[in-house]
Amino acid sequence: MGICVWGTGCGASELIGQGLSLERVSAFVDSYPSGDAFLGKPVLLPEQLAPEDCELLIITTRHADAVAEKCARLGIPGEKLLFLKNNHHLSDRNDGCSAARELLGEELLGRLLPKQRIVPTPARLADSVLPEQELSNDYVRLATLELLCRRLEGVPGAAAELGVYKGFFARCINLLLPERRLYLFDSFEGFDPEAGASEAFQAAHANTAVGKVLAIMPHPENVTVKPGFFPGSLNGLEEKFCLVSLDVDFERTTLDGLRYFWPRLEKGGYLLLHDWGSPSLPGVAQALKAYEEEIGEPIPGVPLCDVGGTLVLCK
Ligand SMILES: C[S@@+](CC[C@H](N)C(=O)[O-])C[C@H]1O[C@@H](n2cnc3c(N)ncnc32)[C@H](O)[C@@H]1O
Repeated sequence: MGICVWGTGCGASELIGQGLSLERVSAFVDSYPSGDAFLGKPVLLPEQLAPEDCELLIITTRHADAVAEKCARLGIPGEKLLFLKNNHHLSDRNDGCSAARELLGEELLGRLLPKQRIVPTPARLADSVLPEQELSNDYVRLATLELLCRRLEGVPGAAAELGVYKGFFARCINLLLPERRLYLFDSFEGFDPEAGASEAFQAAHANTAVGKVLAIMPHPENVTVKPGFFPGSLNGLEEKFCLVSLDVDFERTTLDGLRYFWPRLEKGGYLLLHDWGSPSLPGVAQALKAYEEEIGEPIPGVPLCDVGGTLVLCK
């Protein structure tokens, strides 16, 4: 059967417009077809596709997860699936699609794919994602970090993270800002006993150490670790910052972090307030409110739709 195209809407017609000749398409596939034919080719229901006959299935709709699930149920292997839209994952789900390379060729494939990504170079970050963190990280958070770091050109100052845990996010900061000093603050023994963390939450954050964090940094020579409970761990540090990640989950330390870092953030810099939108960690948003009251003005910020609902505070 050769090449099949999933979808009979704008995405499918764009694909033809971008250079896949219609003669090469055997059939279109659509769960809710509006007719038997599209652009003169037959339209099949997914169940009518014979997996062995279809050499490459190009998915042009935005419902990538649902289509992938359906294809798995129908017995169509991942090597035959090429997703043109909604591929916003850390690891590129098209990497395994060997059929696309063979049947379309590098040139056509190169023309089709990059247009569908939010960030054209997420591979740089995806490469840096360690297997054990795959589940705990999210594309929006890391792709936003990459874009923000591009905006920091010309802004002076160091980078910092308060709340490092195993260093997964810190690793990405170190990768994206290789020339900057990166300060990492963590107790390496969980939360302050006064913070209000449950026993389980404490236990979940216990398994880390300075050596483990440094071992995964791509540029450890530029990393300064400040172990101990914040703000005591500052030990009088005076610095200016271009980028700060504040990720300590509870109100008191978040407020301490804002009090220290916000006045020291350079103009043009960003402070990422992780979990600001998280319903299970309301102390983060409360701390920001309290800090804004203290300084007598609201801080401009852009909320992200990442997993924690990060608020990007902008100076
Ligand atoms: C959610 S984890 C950080 C996760 C990390 N930012 C990431 O994205 O991979 C929160 C961390 O904050 C640290 N922490 C909380 N309160 C602290 C305090 N007062 N001083 C130092 N570290 C603290 C905990 O030890 C824990 O490792």
